[in-house]
Amino acid sequence: MKICVINGSPKGKNSVTFQTVLYLRKHFPDSQWAVLHVGQRIRSYEKDLSGALETMKKADLLLFSYPVYTFLAPWQLHRFIELVKESGIDLSGRFATQISTSKHFYDVTAHRYIEQNSQDLGLKCIRGLSADMGDLTTQKGQKEALDFWNFVRYSVRENLYEIPCGAQQDRGGSNTKQPRKTGKKVIVVTNALPEDRALQARIQEFREQFPYETETVNIAQYPFAGGCLGCLKCAVDGTCVYRDNFSEFLRQRIQKADALVYAFTIRDHSMGASFKLYDDRQFCNGHRTVTMGMPVGYLINGDYGSEDNLRMLLEARAEVGHNYLAGAAWDTDGVGRLCQKLCYALENGYVPPQNFYGVGGMKIFRDLIYVMRGMMRADHAFYKKQGFYRDMPHRQAGTILGMTLVGEMLANPKLKAKMGTKMQEGMLAPYRKVLAEK
Ligand SMILES: Cc1cc2nc3c(=O)[nH]c(=O)nc-3n(C[C@H](O)[C@H](O)[C@H](O)COP(=O)(O)O)c2cc1C
Repeated sequence: MKICVINGSPKGKNSVTFQTVLYLRKHFPDSQWAVLHVGQRIRSYEKDLSGALETMKKADLLLFSYPVYTFLAPWQLHRFIELVKESGIDLSGRFATQISTSKHFYDVTAHRYIEQNSQDLGLKCIRGLSADMGDLTTQKGQKEALDFWNFVRYSVRENLYEIPCGAQQDRGGSNTKQPRKTGKKVIVVTNALPEDRALQARIQEFREQFPYETETVNIAQYPFAGGCLGCLKCAVDGTCVYRDNFSEFLRQRIQKADALVYAFTIRDHSMGASFKLYDDRQFCNGHRTVTMGMPVGYLINGDYGSEDNLRMLLEARAEVGHNYLAGAAWDTDGVGRLCQKLCYALENGYVPPQNFYGVGGMKIFRDLIYVMRGMMRADHAFYKKQGFYRDMPHRQAGTILGMTLVGEMLANPKLKAKMGTKMQEGMLAPYRKVLAEK
């Protein structure tokens, strides 16, 4: 595969994000990697873009590598995209993906921006990797980078890509029927009524195409005693005041699955009231992300493509729960693509790192539960066990001290002048160590 890396960081080779690209290049030497340092050389590209356009045309995959800057990408990458679009280049049929590093503050808007502009250029977009600045220095982050790249290679092979927002679903995915398989439990949770023929048909289509056995659970038939009352009496031990057995049903039947697929008809720009009842009653799990790592998917009847808020909601829910969102299918091709991605995640344990929705959402919950731990005991015990409190600011004394020392140096004009590029080099030292490892 021929890859064209578009490095949008003004730091060029010294970019933290670019270290992940180097890491992937080292682990996948069978691909050809060309690099355009557009962040550093934007002024020369403003004068002559031809070389860059040629390199892009030769590639099978464009890989945008950039830091998140103020909700989006750096000015230099914006300018490069502007120049590329003005050139009128035809890149259709090629793939694009992205790697960013940041502190996850609005990485979602940055990724959407790159995705939408790539789609404008006719590129087929594969969902990118949004890593924290320090991720590559950890084993978990290194695994996430390699898993991501294996997923990208699989997607290119299978012609799997994201569908532009607001567009009709398009072809994509190989749509070849896979042989029947066993060993995974997949549950379709639906609120389909008997007269909801289109939704029933979509579920049937999924069950026929999906290689693993599926079980359908219809929550519209569940004898709920009522909606969540917000009484918080479940806070200590997770027991609901209602005696309709829903908590048991949820924990024993639903949460024990290997993957969940939700099927609904869009009603009033949402999943409909009966699904909301089911969702709210899951408050017996408090703020505990009990299905972390489990892939999820959606089968939808309705014009999901134009439901911006619902799209954000489904992504945010998956991110906060740290589930891989394998996709939302609202037509036949979408069902095929969902089956493929769900299988890939189930068989390869694919769980990308959380983005702003997940990281930000969990920080809010973490602070809330820490403060309310005397009452929210079930949540507190879970957060402690999962290590969710480990990165709380007051536990990072070493970093706080280090930053104070750097601050002192920067405040001293003589020391600041002497520093030169030492700060950048110091920042890159741990990444260089990772790259030097065998
Ligand atoms: C001008 C500027 C704006 C930034 N804006 C954001 C932001 O909106 N969200 C975030 O999480 N990080 C933000 N950051 C942090 C960078 O994304 C982060 O340091 C990144 O890892 C740097 O990558 P690089 O070394 O590849 O350039 C910002 C940094 C700078 C200098």
